[in-house]
Amino acid sequence: MSWASDYLDEARAAIVGAGSLQDLEQLRVGYLGRKSPLTLRLREAAQLEIEERAELNRTKIHLEDLVKTARRELERVAIERVYADSAVDVTLPGDPVPRGRLHLLTQIRREIEDIFLGMGYEVFEGDEVVDAWSNFDALTTDAGHPSRSQNDTFYLSEDVLLRTHTSPDQIRLMEARTPPIYAIMPGRVYRRDTPDATHSPTFLQVEALVVDRGITLADLKGTVLHFFRQLFGPAREVRMRTSFFPFTEPSVEFDVTCFICDAQGCPVCKHSGWIEMGGAGWVDPDVFRNVGVDPDEWSGFAFGLGIERIAMLRHGLPDLRLFWENDLRVLEQF
Ligand code: PHE
Repeated sequence: MSWASDYLDEARAAIVGAGSLQDLEQLRVGYLGRKSPLTLRLREAAQLEIEERAELNRTKIHLEDLVKTARRELERVAIERVYADSAVDVTLPGDPVPRGRLHLLTQIRREIEDIFLGMGYEVFEGDEVVDAWSNFDALTTDAGHPSRSQNDTFYLSEDVLLRTHTSPDQIRLMEARTPPIYAIMPGRVYRRDTPDATHSPTFLQVEALVVDRGITLADLKGTVLHFFRQLFGPAREVRMRTSFFPFTEPSVEFDVTCFICDAQGCPVCKHSGWIEMGGAGWVDPDVFRNVGVDPDEWSGFAFGLGIERIAMLRHGLPDLRLFWENDLRVLEQF
């Protein structure tokens, strides 16, 4: 056994057993560094036998290889530990992300739009700020009509106001197009009402307007019936009661059979089996004249519906204010 082979055995055992990269570096310095016994011995090499010098050099190279191999192995283990520590268990349940949803009123509005789009209607959006002409005059609502009063209407100036219904959209649309017209006009309307369970200074309506040749009240009834059957189920029936609106002649209010009790009688329909749904009528020829449509050639019908009312009836909501309070406990239910 030579000095070199003893040295190699000892160093190899230490290097192979190194537990960390730091330990390994210390061993490298100790066995191969400038002050290591091997280096010191090599420094005296000139006085050594050529055989011994060669053996020392082989030992050095061998040890350098061992260090390199050991370092690679320790690095691999270190990286694997990092991977293991940061590994993601894809089988764990994820953190739930809260999901948003459309407001109930938006859902119903879209449902209504879908039904009419299915009948080939267009959806037209008028403005919320309108002139008195389109909200009242063109709809033959004359100067003394109570709905024009400051007590009922939000005026921005003498002639400009927040629309009190979606009917001015009829005027806007007929001014912008030539018949035939098949359109619905959903949107926000404003009235000077004190908020309570059934009143609000702002709410949503949907207006419908049809202008074509030979339109009769039967078309109105068939359209409303189809609409309610789509919205509330195929067993629904519709009835009309005479009424009055300045811009329709004749005017009606329409009811639908109660979809809560199937017309058997319940608190929602006040035990009548019928629920009031809106106003309608045959477009007054004077309204046509006001927008330049010839009433001898064209006829049409219009109706208006309240969106909140549909939502409240359908879901048994007791108070209009629930729609705007943004209480998630309410809104999340839809
Ligand atoms: N605009 C009327 C209202 O707000 C409803 C209506 C619309 C009536 C269209 C007739 C025709 O009460």
